[in-house]
Amino acid sequence: MKKTFFILIAIFGMVLFITNSCNKTTDVPFEHATMKPFFDSQCASCHASGGSASSSWKYNSNDYSTIKNHISSIYQNVYVRKTMPPSGISSTDLNAFKAWYDAGYPAK
Ligand code: HEC
Repeated sequence: MKKTFFILIAIFGMVLFITNSCNKTTDVPFEHATMKPFFDSQCASCHASGGSASSSWKYNSNDYSTIKNHISSIYQNVYVRKTMPPSGISSTDLNAFKAWYDAGYPAK
């Protein structure tokens, strides 16, 4: 009986340890010198949390994964189809976007 109790405690401890280490991933902020201002001014109004289009893609500059995990869709919409931002994009911004994308869309 005692043995079972200790085994249960050990399993419980391991489960706690595993769930704890899984939750420890800290968000990497998006800090790119030219692209953060671009996303903030051109996309955040609709795509930040609470924005009208945040259900199709949610942008959070404090969490680079919101860009990294959706980069193919972002690239398609901004550069290939040019549907985002809906108001259109300047050639300066388009070139900056492409250069950033080709450089491996770095976080900073
Ligand atoms: C004026 C509001 C508005 C702005 C600004 C805007 N979007 Fe969107 N976006 C939308 C809406 C609405 C949708 C959903 C409908 C659609 O797919 O056309 C969408 C959809 C998307 C999607 C998801 C498409 C899919 O595959 O489901 C991506 C990615 C996206 N936008 C990226 C961007 C980026 C990057 C910017 C900034 C350069 C941007 N958007 C700026 C309104 C906006």
